[in-house]
Amino acid sequence: TWTMVNIVEEQLERIREQIGDKRVICALSGGVDSAVAGALVQRAVGDQLTCVFVDHGLLRKGEADQVEKDFVAITGAKLKVVDAEEQFLSELAGVTDPEEKRKIIGREFIRVFEQAAREVVAESGEDGAEVEFLVQGTLYPDVVESGGGTGTANIKSHHNVGGLPDDLQFTLVEPLRELFKDEVRKVGEELGLPPEMVWRQPFPGPGLGIRIIGEVNRERLEILREADAIAREELSRAGLDRDIWQCPVVLLADVRSVGVQGDGRTYGHPVVLRPVSSEDAMTADWSRVPYDVLARISNRITNEVREINRVTLDVTSKPPGTIEWE
Ligand code: XMP
Repeated sequence: TWTMVNIVEEQLERIREQIGDKRVICALSGGVDSAVAGALVQRAVGDQLTCVFVDHGLLRKGEADQVEKDFVAITGAKLKVVDAEEQFLSELAGVTDPEEKRKIIGREFIRVFEQAAREVVAESGEDGAEVEFLVQGTLYPDVVESGGGTGTANIKSHHNVGGLPDDLQFTLVEPLRELFKDEVRKVGEELGLPPEMVWRQPFPGPGLGIRIIGEVNRERLEILREADAIAREELSRAGLDRDIWQCPVVLLADVRSVGVQGDGRTYGHPVVLRPVSSEDAMTADWSRVPYDVLARISNRITNEVREINRVTLDVTSKPPGTIEWE
């Protein structure tokens, strides 16, 4: 629309003014905010920007590809991908405590990102240009919440990137500081980002790591990824994406129950569907998803994901139940 074009044009001008001919990096997470912020900065200063994507192996089906292929194809951004699945999984081995998982994932994220940032800084040395700026997808509600100040370091902890060390000081570029979420989505559309990226529902930084109840490993991630993809597909097909705030699919990896599939007895795992409606995630109610949609999801998951023989529905509001199970 006309106003969106204006907002975009004005932001591009401001970004160019701030960055000048310096270099800038941006951490992409797969989420809306970092993608839109990165795309804006790319459009403003082109190859002065290097995006960094830390693939921790805990994203949902297709999400890493969305960043590595679609985002790059659409924006033309220079992207450094760090495949850190191995590292995250080995740090997570044997860990079942939710807070412990969060801590490990947050800590490893910082480690890997720091290393990647150092490499980008080192690589940029050739022509004497330095990396001085770091893009951050801070939105207006975040600004209000944190008292309105602007900083020179640290990415918000809920993005799991924590504070950066002293030898990696960047000045922040925050092109979304004046925007609400719905405006960010419109800017994303204006920039041509794919709908799955622009309209992505909230997804926790620790990813599928906190949706596997029990130890996280590659096999369990694979199972959950398939089940989650089916649930998302059917909810979208039923036109429920905008009614539902989000629908975690949770794998009860240490629980087994008896089932019968085909001619045989099975002893598989249950998954829990956790569709919720909410305004701000502070409180939530369980979504009254139509029975026929639930039936399709259940049939497909138990037919298509061999290890899962039972699908259950979480009918708890928040409070007392949080949206995520961990
Ligand atoms: P809960 O489970 O606390 O979740 O009701 C509220 C909202 O926050 C998301 N969430 C997280 N997001 N890092 C994040 O970036 C986290 O560690 C985290 N834990 C929960 C959750 O998906 C929901 O939207």
